[in-house]
Amino acid sequence: MAPEPRPLWEREELRAVAGETLRPGGFELTDRAAERIGAVPGWRVLDVGAGLGATVSRLRSRYGVEAWGVEPSAAQLGLGCAVPGLVRARGDRLPFARERFDAVFCECVFSLFDNRPAGLAEFHRVLKPGGFLVLSDLCASNPVPEDGASCADRAEPLAETVRLVRGHGFAVDLLEDHSDRLRDLAARLAWIGEGVSCGCGRGVGYFLMIAKKQGA
Ligand SMILES: C[S@@+](CC[C@H](N)C(=O)[O-])C[C@H]1O[C@@H](n2cnc3c(N)ncnc32)[C@H](O)[C@@H]1O
Repeated sequence: MAPEPRPLWEREELRAVAGETLRPGGFELTDRAAERIGAVPGWRVLDVGAGLGATVSRLRSRYGVEAWGVEPSAAQLGLGCAVPGLVRARGDRLPFARERFDAVFCECVFSLFDNRPAGLAEFHRVLKPGGFLVLSDLCASNPVPEDGASCADRAEPLAETVRLVRGHGFAVDLLEDHSDRLRDLAARLAWIGEGVSCGCGRGVGYFLMIAKKQGA
């Protein structure tokens, strides 16, 4: 039997066009969110699905926060081994105490969760009251018919993600469309001959959401 193809985010072709940030929008969306939530030195921030640890490093160096990352893939952790604070774990089982973080980032990862409600319950548990969830991800304007493994195949309608986030004790503060950044990344991949479908032609887009933890 032929081995499973490696997911796009573990391939050098993506790193060749996206650098260390394995997502549409790169640091621009990270910075937009960090500035909007007012990240300052002394904050504790967790990046879920940290990939190579680029956001963990960025948040430390630019905003002076204490940052950690969780990442389930040994291959990703091997490539990001120079970044301290990366822990092997899944986003729906976080190895941290409750109310530990001022903010949780989850960039281009949530659509890959097998159990999104469990993930949101974990984000809520580890955030302080009033803490921020920064979620950027793919979304589908129509339910996507394929049962594939890529982010685009697994993208959910945005309204469904908003409903789920609200239903897990968050108030949505900001919701923006950044589908142009997904199209840009797809075009750069196509330029180097990587024929990966971003799903743009079938209504897949990209969003940035900031939500605030309500209650205790
Ligand atoms: C497209 S990459 C994005 C990585 C990083 N956030 C970035 O933007 O550079 C998706 C990442 O999510 C990780 N991932 C997949 N399922 C996950 C889960 N259930 N919990 C946490 N991370 C997961 C993958 O291993 C991969 O590193």
